[in-house]
Amino acid sequence: MTWKDSFALGIPQIDKQHKELCDQIDKLYEAGSKGKGAGEVMNILNFLESYTIRHFADEEKLQQEIRYPKYAQHKAKHDEFVRKIAQMKKEATENGVNIALVIKLNQMVSEWLIGHIKAADSDYAKYYKG
Ligand SMILES: [Fe+2]
Repeated sequence: MTWKDSFALGIPQIDKQHKELCDQIDKLYEAGSKGKGAGEVMNILNFLESYTIRHFADEEKLQQEIRYPKYAQHKAKHDEFVRKIAQMKKEATENGVNIALVIKLNQMVSEWLIGHIKAADSDYAKYYKG
């Protein structure tokens, strides 16, 4: 998934992490489409999962620091996404990694991330910047 300047929130640490997430999603897609093997896809998927968890923790910490009023709603969205990733990992482990799964995964995470940045993240960024 290609990073676009329109995704920038104006919070350097968070923008950097969002860029890294975009890169990882790209890597995952590449590994899947080039048939690099299930091992490689699972490695990237595992990294994506742990990176996402760290990234969400950073955002949540920031929101608590600024006493963001919609913190609970925002955190619920993060938790839901972490569950989705775990579900995809389970599917990949049980049914094996194939191109259909990688396409579905890529689409799910890209759409979620873009939608989330543009709506929920933009909202707290506005609050952050006052
Ligand atoms: Fe977020």
